[in-house]
Amino acid sequence: MSKKITVSDFIEKKQINEKITMLTAYDYSTAKLFDKAGIDALLVGDSLGMVMLGYDNTLQVSVDDIIHHTKAVSRGATNSLVVADMPFLSYHISPQETVRNAGRMIQEANAETVKVEGGEEIIDKVEALIKAQIPVMGHLGLTPQSVNVAGGFKVQGKSQEEAKKLVNDAKLLEKAGVFAIVLECVPYPLARLVSEKISIPTIGIGAGNVCDGQILVYQDMLGMYSDMVPKFVKKYKDLGRDIQDAVKDYIQEVKEGKFPEEKHCFNMDESVLQDL
Ligand code: KIV
Repeated sequence: MSKKITVSDFIEKKQINEKITMLTAYDYSTAKLFDKAGIDALLVGDSLGMVMLGYDNTLQVSVDDIIHHTKAVSRGATNSLVVADMPFLSYHISPQETVRNAGRMIQEANAETVKVEGGEEIIDKVEALIKAQIPVMGHLGLTPQSVNVAGGFKVQGKSQEEAKKLVNDAKLLEKAGVFAIVLECVPYPLARLVSEKISIPTIGIGAGNVCDGQILVYQDMLGMYSDMVPKFVKKYKDLGRDIQDAVKDYIQEVKEGKFPEEKHCFNMDESVLQDL
């Protein structure tokens, strides 16, 4: 019988060299489908700001947004670990506020872990979360909440200075007790080095197959979001086109009176309508 994946399973998978699989999810029915397919973990990413809410970036996403979507995802996740993304400014002001916000994600939304972006600059917040018994996933490389400082969504860690900082941040996060680190848009030789230097798993997105696991935004891999398609995305299905074709068929059949058919309707004894 399958069981709920835990943070210990993540560490064990790295030890036995078994790749970890993750996808984003933002609602109950999608979470249930991915869970049934056998995904290890579901991230309620702040990417929901772009792919679900139509913002240009992730900065407008609130703690309440993440809680709302995590509630739905955790109802659909029987086996997959649920990771709630801490949005912009929810873990930057003080360790106390960080723990309170993450605590809401655990208590109100049934998340099992949280994810934060950054290294040395947020290490006191990460330590506070771990002290409060909240498992933390790190996120280094391209950290979309820093888009205004970074000047766009760009590959990170190409210079020696950037690469050195990334390795140092990964080690600091490991020392603080995080159970895994997402590496986003990092050249794969650097991702390989980081993966070798730390004992916790790395989860890559645009960081090559040298990482201990992979994550993708599900709308990207299923062809459902075309506003921005990064180079690292593989489109496993073109559901965007399938959905549009289905909707076009529906429109045509409604207009032509072909839908609904007899089998989609409820009948009654016509005599009841007499004298009405
Ligand atoms: O918000 C998100 O979906 C993420 C992934 C891209 C890792 O942080």
